[in-house]
Amino acid sequence: MMRFSDEFLKEIREKNDIVDVISPYVNLQIRGSTAKGLCPFHNEKTASFTVYLNTQSYYCFGCGSGGDAITFIKNAEGLHYSDAVAFLAQKSGIPLPQDGYDDTVAKMKRRMFDANRDAAKFFHATLMSPEGKTCLDYFLSRGLTMETIRHFGLGCAPDKWDALIRYMKKKGYSEQEILEADLARKTKNGHVVDTYRNRAMFPIIDVNGSVIAFGGRVLDDSKPKYVNTSDTLVYKKSQGVFALNFAKKGTGKTIILCEGYMDVIAYHQAGFENAVAGLGTAFTPEQAKLISKYAEEVILSYDSDEAGQKATRRTIGILSKTPVRIKVARLQGGKDPDEIIKKYGKDKMQQILSSAVGDVDFELTREKQGYNLSSADGKVAYLGRAVEILSMTNNPIHWDVYASRLSQELDVDKKAIVSQIERKAKQNHRRETKANFDKATTFDDEAMKKANPDRQKYLVAAKAEETLISLLLHNPDFYEKIKSRLSEDDFSTSLNCRIYRLLSQKLEQKRPVDVTYFAEDLNDEELGYLVRLECMRENLSNTVNECLDCIKRMKEEKIERNTKQASDMTDDEWASMFKKNQ
Ligand code: UTP
Ligand code: MN
Repeated sequence: MMRFSDEFLKEIREKNDIVDVISPYVNLQIRGSTAKGLCPFHNEKTASFTVYLNTQSYYCFGCGSGGDAITFIKNAEGLHYSDAVAFLAQKSGIPLPQDGYDDTVAKMKRRMFDANRDAAKFFHATLMSPEGKTCLDYFLSRGLTMETIRHFGLGCAPDKWDALIRYMKKKGYSEQEILEADLARKTKNGHVVDTYRNRAMFPIIDVNGSVIAFGGRVLDDSKPKYVNTSDTLVYKKSQGVFALNFAKKGTGKTIILCEGYMDVIAYHQAGFENAVAGLGTAFTPEQAKLISKYAEEVILSYDSDEAGQKATRRTIGILSKTPVRIKVARLQGGKDPDEIIKKYGKDKMQQILSSAVGDVDFELTREKQGYNLSSADGKVAYLGRAVEILSMTNNPIHWDVYASRLSQELDVDKKAIVSQIERKAKQNHRRETKANFDKATTFDDEAMKKANPDRQKYLVAAKAEETLISLLLHNPDFYEKIKSRLSEDDFSTSLNCRIYRLLSQKLEQKRPVDVTYFAEDLNDEELGYLVRLECMRENLSNTVNECLDCIKRMKEEKIERNTKQASDMTDDEWASMFKKNQ
């Protein structure tokens, strides 16, 4: 893979202001030179995603990911680094370097789409052949019509070790291509075998109509029930949504979200063509984001058992980070939609969907069951919980509606309830703001420890290293004055040592050292760590002496290793140690 020149990356950096790039994805609140919002890369209720306008970088205090405009697009859109660069170049009208842009990845993706489509055709043809009879009988016994089977392009993986491999090779695909698409896997003994054998096949099709993955179900009760395509160049399990290709065409803006393939298919066959399922084990923020592109309202239709209810609560939490309205269907008379439709028909299902309740309603009803409302204490306790739940919604219309209802149910003054909710909401807000502010001024967060695993062990040394790196990032001219006094051996933590090596390579060549120029050498967490070091600037005196102090401290620590005392030292004590020397 080629590297882009510094000049080219510099132009991308200058023409794509980080706030403009991030704004379509995150609702940013700008204050001074920093902006805050809800992190798009993990699930959170309070804003820990921070954008630094001066350095044109971002960092999330919650999950530790960080970088610049390019890495942001790369992560938000699930692109390769070079594709993210190409995207921003095109967006800002910068021509790609003639000799440079590498489209190997794009070609490999196209080839993989083709391979998946050919495999889907093979599975479907097998299903319709005598070899697929058992499988076809299985689908029919589950109540599917031939029309439904064709509509979803369902298939059958033969009961052989290499039926698909042979077919694909005949079509001209290499073994490596077949393996990379996860259509075949290597066994422990090194044999290459079909990933799906003797299974009922469900192709997963993305919103562009390309087959991107498969789910394969056993025909009996053996385990595992489903084998699914693992992540490939064209598929990320955490982003897969089954049947969204059909559901997105629905005229209504409602999407029904179920647990499994069979539920979705049963819904569609009964005429509810807006049903989808998140794939993989647990619903993810990426899936939520994708669905919210096509829906204004999501009706949760998970299984009625304990696990389904638990998953419902979890999914509400994730969906509430998106703008969609959330409702919950109360499944009655069967364990899942598939069973209910089969037993009672589509009218009953329609009735269940029409009486789906809002997410707040679902939560309140659930809570209510835990309190004895005939006692005064029970009432007070439940009201307290209800106020808490409502204060989290930040929706004054909800507050009004539910306060009315609570006031009737519990015989309490409605105005009192509303003012309690408002007070609580203000409290939440104050607490969150303070917590976020505190985080932005300390350099001890969990994510930093995670990115640099040696940090906690050698805390004093690590802080000296960090300060030194930050000084060099902001004062590249110091490098010539200190380089002879420092070697890689003086570093105690391997990440800082590696960063210093990269940094000195760039500085030797008089190249720029903003975060942008490290993106291809560091992973997301490490890049986030570097953004944090870049932000230490405010606490530094920015003198060569300060560098020399750091180096001295690093050398001493390397010898002494006085870790116990070190971890007791606060950021302030650490900073004051340097101030004394000036
Ligand atoms: P279910 O066990 O409810 O499957 O798991 P289902 O699709 O309703 O299938 P039937 O009705 O038993 O035939 C729900 C979803 O969880 C995933 C699949 O996406 C499935 O559709 N799953 C389940 C797996 O990926 N692997 C498994 O082993 C089990
Ligand atoms: Mn199920």
